[in-house]
Amino acid sequence: MKILVLGGFGFVGKSVTEELRKKGFDPIQLSRSNGLDLLDLSAAKAKFESIRPDLIINCAAHSGSLHYISEYAADVMHDNTQIILNLYAAVKDACPAARVINPLSNCSYPGNSDIQREDEWWSGPVHKSVWSYGNTRKILKVVSECYAMQYGIKSINFLVPNAYGPGDSTDPNHTHALNGMIIRMHRAKRRGDDVFEIWGSGKPVREWIFVRDIARIFLTVIDRVESQVEPINVAQKKGYSIKEIAEIIKRLMKYAGRLEFNTKYQDGDPKKVLDNTLFRERFPDFRFTDIADGIRETIAYYQKALES
Ligand SMILES: NC(=O)c1ccc[n+]([C@@H]2O[C@H](COP(=O)([O-])OP(=O)(O)OC[C@H]3O[C@@H](n4cnc5c(N)ncnc54)[C@H](OP(=O)(O)O)[C@@H]3O)[C@@H](O)[C@H]2O)c1
Repeated sequence: MKILVLGGFGFVGKSVTEELRKKGFDPIQLSRSNGLDLLDLSAAKAKFESIRPDLIINCAAHSGSLHYISEYAADVMHDNTQIILNLYAAVKDACPAARVINPLSNCSYPGNSDIQREDEWWSGPVHKSVWSYGNTRKILKVVSECYAMQYGIKSINFLVPNAYGPGDSTDPNHTHALNGMIIRMHRAKRRGDDVFEIWGSGKPVREWIFVRDIARIFLTVIDRVESQVEPINVAQKKGYSIKEIAEIIKRLMKYAGRLEFNTKYQDGDPKKVLDNTLFRERFPDFRFTDIADGIRETIAYYQKALES
């Protein structure tokens, strides 16, 4: 099976590629860094025609921090929508039998939902703080559905919570939230800081997924699922407060300083946890990585990456 990983050098794409290789696949990684700009439709068509993939794992996105996606809201909307439209137009012309797997971020859920259930995905607007990016994840689902209706293109859509794990950037401004906390605490420990400051009360509860688990669920569906346009949560229905996460990192890193919560900064929504009913029905045997094990491995990755 010929597998193409778009955004293959990004945080999720790299992990997916590594897991595929471990299982004996030989995936092709593509992004702008090695010559495919998905904003260019004819380039995308030409690449897909030359590769003729059977499966496309779509980890390409113009993403960024909460601050970034608001400051560059129009660019984020434009680029992601164009990437999505070009991807499906190129698949339709170049490799219409290829399946497309899309990890949709759970920030696309309505802003006011604390338990995120698939049948409530459309029940309200996404939160203003993620307006640009969250809405493009909804567009991705709609585009995949329209290409299924008219051209029979098969997509498998998942809704995925915040990821953490090895392989992400070492710049805390360009990493995902939990990884960023590990980097900052590692630096605080090296400097011998007595206090580690966390913005906000530490009370908001979020669900986290070890990045390799996203790759593992993709591997599970490769042989089992032909098409799944209605997105399914990749979910444990288990959240941790920011304070709990900080305490786990502190314990595993053996950081002796004190955690301080700066309540001058606002908290986001109090709780965001994904319902796991459908996931458990469909994937009863899937085991998620224990959070402490995942964080331990992520700390080890950053200790090495930041020391070298
Ligand atoms: N990370 C999470 O917590 C998380 C959680 C849920 C779902 N997801 C989803 O997983 C996907 C990947 O996320 P990520 O965290 O891995 O993002 P990421 O680290 O920012 O990676 C995105 C990738 O897309 C590529 N890209 C950007 N613009 C492109 C373009 N015009 N043409 C071709 N490639 C382009 C980038 O590489 P170049 O700059 O080299 O082009 C990069 O490799 C996204 O759809 C995201 O919504 C992520």
